[in-house]
Amino acid sequence: MTQSSRDRATADDAGRGEPGRRVSPRDAAAAEELLSAGRLSVEGRLVQASNATLYCSVERDGLAAACVYKPVAGERPLWDFPDGTLAEREVAAYEVSKAMGWATVPPTVHRDGPYGPGMVQLWVEPDPDIDLVALSRSDDEAVRRMAVFDAVVNNADRKIGHLLPPGDGHVYGCDHGVCFSVDYKLRTVLWQWRGKPLTPEALDALGRVDAAMRGPLGARLAELLTPDEVDATRRRVELMLKHRIHPYPPEDWPAIPWPPL
Ligand SMILES: Nc1ncnc2c1ncn2[C@@H]1O[C@H](COP(=O)(O)OP(=O)(O)O)[C@@H](O)[C@H]1O
Ligand SMILES: [Mg+2]
Repeated sequence: MTQSSRDRATADDAGRGEPGRRVSPRDAAAAEELLSAGRLSVEGRLVQASNATLYCSVERDGLAAACVYKPVAGERPLWDFPDGTLAEREVAAYEVSKAMGWATVPPTVHRDGPYGPGMVQLWVEPDPDIDLVALSRSDDEAVRRMAVFDAVVNNADRKIGHLLPPGDGHVYGCDHGVCFSVDYKLRTVLWQWRGKPLTPEALDALGRVDAAMRGPLGARLAELLTPDEVDATRRRVELMLKHRIHPYPPEDWPAIPWPPL
């Protein structure tokens, strides 16, 4: 058993025996309500995480779920992102994902918890039979959507281990704390489409975000990010709609995360 599967097995065991019906990551409204207002119990710590990333159960009115809780107090300071802002960036990434309409990010909220305010995200159990390295290098449609999403949020840390395929063809992504820098910092293992034309469905999704940035999404991001970061997000979307290609790697910044897993 590998280190990460052992961690996951521990997490699975902790999640068993929760009362109630399970909530699906596809049911965003129900999941957001459960994550925001449910009783949060810490079950364990994800040891492969770089921040204090806690595996929890959440329960309310007969609905239950496993989730991840990252308290702001447990965020490791970074040189290139302001302290104490990663949880809000995770929620901002979820809001963008919703506006794109692809459900790339599992339902994510900001709330108080046993270790203070933080982000809480629905747990998506990846299918252990899916080879994540192969998936990350493939031409998979869901992964391609994730590459477009990452370009919009300017994800500086898309690792292979951040791909969560539940086995139904969908691929969720996690760990969006280091997104939304005003500088171009796209750092990802998903460069296989660089310079290729965006698909018609990607252009549709970008059109949806572009419109939403002028309305509710722009207002919501203004609560979570700085005005410059919101402007930069709007500009990235406009640039992709103008050039209609997947972006190329930055030249002044390591384009692949290390370690890539
Ligand atoms: N919502 C989630 N569903 C399932 N697994 C998750 C989820 N969020 C995180 N994980 C797992 O936990 C690991 C650590 O979480 P991550 O968000 O990468 O934390 P950190 O910010 O500390 O790097 C991930 O690599 C992934 O395996
Ligand atoms: Mg991580």
